[in-house]
Amino acid sequence: MKRKRIVAGNWKMNKTLSEVRDFINEVKIARDNDVLHIIACPFPFLQEFYSGAKKRDLDIHLAAQDCHHARSGAYTGEVSAEMLTSVGSRYVVLGHSERRQYFNESGELLKKKVGTALESGLHIIFCCGETLDQRQAGMEKDVVLGQIRESLFHLDEDQWPKMILAYEPVWAIGTGETASPDQAEEMHAYIRSQLPDHIKGQVPVIYGGSVKPSNFTELLSRDNIDGGLIGGASLSAASYSELSSLATAI
Ligand code: PGA
Repeated sequence: MKRKRIVAGNWKMNKTLSEVRDFINEVKIARDNDVLHIIACPFPFLQEFYSGAKKRDLDIHLAAQDCHHARSGAYTGEVSAEMLTSVGSRYVVLGHSERRQYFNESGELLKKKVGTALESGLHIIFCCGETLDQRQAGMEKDVVLGQIRESLFHLDEDQWPKMILAYEPVWAIGTGETASPDQAEEMHAYIRSQLPDHIKGQVPVIYGGSVKPSNFTELLSRDNIDGGLIGGASLSAASYSELSSLATAI
């Protein structure tokens, strides 16, 4: 089965309601069965994004940026996986390095979140990646393997098709410094080699860390790089539209 190319925007804690509306009105999404478009939107705007995109008939899927590990209950301020599907989210991003770093999310907690999200019918963009210190110590592959092993290696055969893996080296996120296509390809091939045999060729592995229109095509041209998880360059409609058209041009 041929893997699709993925253009996944991650807006993080950015935008107001009117900015979300402007994005939906201005963005141009190239229609292409081989390309999957996703935007990970802040919680308050999920429903607005879903209905706005539907109204414009945009071929784009909605993701949330996190969910709680419990199905429901007394967790003031938290958001459940079921709430996300009820407002049109198809995906959830889990394990982003900012969540691991600033909110102390452990591999064990992420394993629980993955389970609850899958039970609720969500697909998952699961992030992994090493810090600069870890890369300089030559530990990057062990770190990344440890992250996916701890949170994902228990999954059943029928759960893997709901996973997208995102390799995001922490030193490349928001820094303007991108992993070279060779560095990214090497890690993507390694990640793929560690996945269960029956699913190896099918799970998309996307790259994140200062992806922009000027480096996207080269990254996408590598065998094991199936797309991007894009922060800063997904915020403007013009830039996201350009990334979409580059992905369809390949
Ligand atoms: P960036 O963020 O593209 O701004 O580096 C990527 C991410 O954190 O997903």
